[in-house]
Amino acid sequence: MIVDADLHVPGDKSITHRALLFAAFARGTSRIARALTSLDARSSARVLRQLGAAVSPLAPGRDIVVTGRGRFQRPAAVLHCGNSGTTSRLLLGLLAAHPFAATLTGDRSLRRRPMRRVTIPLELMGARCTFRGHDGLPLTVRGGTLRSLRYELPVSSAQLKSALLLAGVAGAVPVEVREPAGRSRDHTERMLRAFGYDVADDGEWIRFAPTGRIAPASYEIPGDPSSAAFLLGAALLAEGGSLRLRDVGLNPTRTGFLRVIARMGGGVAVENLRVAGGEPVGDLVVRPSGLRATEVAPGEIPGLIDEIPLLSVLASRAEGTTVFREVGELRVKESDRLALLAANLRAVGARAEARGNTLTVQGGDAPPRGRVTTAGDHRLAMAFAVLGTVAGARVRVDDPDCAAVSFPRFHELLRALGARRKRRS
Ligand code: S3P
Repeated sequence: MIVDADLHVPGDKSITHRALLFAAFARGTSRIARALTSLDARSSARVLRQLGAAVSPLAPGRDIVVTGRGRFQRPAAVLHCGNSGTTSRLLLGLLAAHPFAATLTGDRSLRRRPMRRVTIPLELMGARCTFRGHDGLPLTVRGGTLRSLRYELPVSSAQLKSALLLAGVAGAVPVEVREPAGRSRDHTERMLRAFGYDVADDGEWIRFAPTGRIAPASYEIPGDPSSAAFLLGAALLAEGGSLRLRDVGLNPTRTGFLRVIARMGGGVAVENLRVAGGEPVGDLVVRPSGLRATEVAPGEIPGLIDEIPLLSVLASRAEGTTVFREVGELRVKESDRLALLAANLRAVGARAEARGNTLTVQGGDAPPRGRVTTAGDHRLAMAFAVLGTVAGARVRVDDPDCAAVSFPRFHELLRALGARRKRRS
């Protein structure tokens, strides 16, 4: 493929969820511009409506208008979070301070994901949580008056960290948390500071003090670097040309994949770097590049956790053997991504192995051919669709449509990369 395109990627998923939650929790009307309108964003909008907020329909190109009541109302029915871990976990934090019982559930994928990591510290703060099974949704949270928390997280996870910070917000109590290995994304901390909260970070502990108030606001959502990564990956594997991706969020807690790609020899330049809505934003200009293998260290993992599928696919086209260490968290993502990544790479003829918490991918240049099983995991579907753009490839993805969880027009934009004419979207 000769790549020749100039595109916008959809709004950032993590920041869209947070903006929706914050806007629904504020008393009054907020606007969210350039938000993601994918299935996951709709899950947040749906449950927030059940909790008493008015949320306008999510449509691409239209601002979302949210009117909140300052508190959530007791929901009349079970809160169905669809496929969205962020919706369920962040909401648990806010609900922990509300004096009613609410039951959360999700689709098959979300129901198998661990929730006790969130409910254990929320119970230390005073919430009560009841599970039907050993762990995971459905679960019922009974909130109330909360106590302060000082807690060492068992995993570096922005969803867990954010749930606890949001419990601090809704319960108006101090919260201190420490992440064990590398820093996860800090969008919640940035937004809280913008509302006057004191969120200190000494490089070890994050200390939240309930000094602010979440008020109605205007949000501008940057392009999602995790979505950009897939198109960028396809451009790196192309045979010539260049790709520009505009207005991509470049928060340093999200751009670990760019540092890894630079080590692999990938030609990606950042242009027009600026700050918008409290987040660094810029254009990514990508040139097809020969890639070489690298080692990805444990401390890097939280900063590129969602890009490992794409990086693994790139590694399968690189010279040498790439190793990702301490990637056990991949087992509890939308699928068992660690097992499926290795199995699918082998299914298309690459050499890959998941052993313990280590993923090893050997590069090669034979055309990838075979069938890919996604288990409904959007990032696996997109990563292997990217691999399918390689010359001579014949990659069949079992459920390509699941990309709509985070990136509604992904396949259309992937096809548009090779267009001769400059395109914008
Ligand atoms: C997210 C955090 C990450 C990431 C997910 C979105 C967030 O999950 O994988 O796609 O918005 O906070 P973990 O916090 O479980 O690592």
